[in-house]
Amino acid sequence: MPHIPQSIRGAVITGWGTALPEKVITNDDLAKMMDTSDAWIRERTGIERRHIGGSTASLSVESGQRALVMSGIDPSEIDALILSTTTPDRTVPATSARVQHQLGLRCGAFDINAACSGFVYGLVTAHGLIAMGARNVLLIGTDTLSRITDWTDRNTAILFADGSGAAVLSAVDGPGQLLAWDLDADGSAEDLLYAEIGGNLFMEGKEVFRKAVRVMVDSAKKSMAIAGVTADEITLVVPHQANIRIIRAACERLGVSMERTAVVLQETGNTSSASIPLALFDAADHHRLKSGDLVLLVGFGAGMTAASSIIRWGGL
Ligand code: ACO
Repeated sequence: MPHIPQSIRGAVITGWGTALPEKVITNDDLAKMMDTSDAWIRERTGIERRHIGGSTASLSVESGQRALVMSGIDPSEIDALILSTTTPDRTVPATSARVQHQLGLRCGAFDINAACSGFVYGLVTAHGLIAMGARNVLLIGTDTLSRITDWTDRNTAILFADGSGAAVLSAVDGPGQLLAWDLDADGSAEDLLYAEIGGNLFMEGKEVFRKAVRVMVDSAKKSMAIAGVTADEITLVVPHQANIRIIRAACERLGVSMERTAVVLQETGNTSSASIPLALFDAADHHRLKSGDLVLLVGFGAGMTAASSIIRWGGL
């Protein structure tokens, strides 16, 4: 298990922003398109509505711009842009290139794809770049899953949606906010959830559900062990927003009550790379976090990937 050396140059989140498309599709809207119902979707997933539209670049520019403004950092001082997405606008080049241009950045830009774990993968990567000398890194998690969803398939269409969340991470003297991280992948489970190039998402929902709970709990426990903290000390768990039943089951196994869990999926559906930042920054915007609080981020996704990290909010 990788421990973060004490001497490393750390980072803190100095600004954030989110973006959701204007168009909303309710469960009742879906029930007009396929054999499903609002009651079934609410009970089995917790989702009530979702936002659909835009491109991965356009949503990223929106959330990224908000994060830059909040941080007060000049675009010329951003040394890297990381875009976590599983739905790039083009196969080549990386969508981050267009986002970099439209935000007026002059820095390296690259995409990472770790599906719904991607924002945490990006968070760890951003900290690594800052440890290596970057002053500020813009990290954006965006997905437009509606573009690879079969809107006649009730197994997937009820779950997936579009959104974006962004954070500016800035170097600080001292260790910063990141106390622990864990990144995992199990490529043997690839066929449980995939989309061929140009194709739609296919998912073995039940098996994904079963594995999701296990890998989230395992990854979260690893991060807590590395940080040397117990579940009681965590102020807020920010899980990947896939299904309220997965979140409940994982939190129960971790010994964390739902009052200490960030949930926005009723409004957003599953937005993959955007899901953790949407939930984290919703909690921050609603003043659920104060400086010094411990936050556990934990995700899972296609791959199957899993990732977790523990941050001390405010970086104190
Ligand atoms: N509306 C109404 N009925 C439905 C629907 C629907 N949309 N879908 C399935 N049903 C029916 C089934 O046909 C079945 O009927 P039966 O009992 O007569 O056979 C019944 O409802 C139960 O179906 P299950 O598949 O057992 O439902 P389950 O409780 O497993 O829920 C779900 C399905 C919501 C897909 C769940 O398995 C799940 O959330 N899985 C995890 C998905 C996930 O997290 N994916 C994202 C991974 S992250 C990433 O990388 C994108």
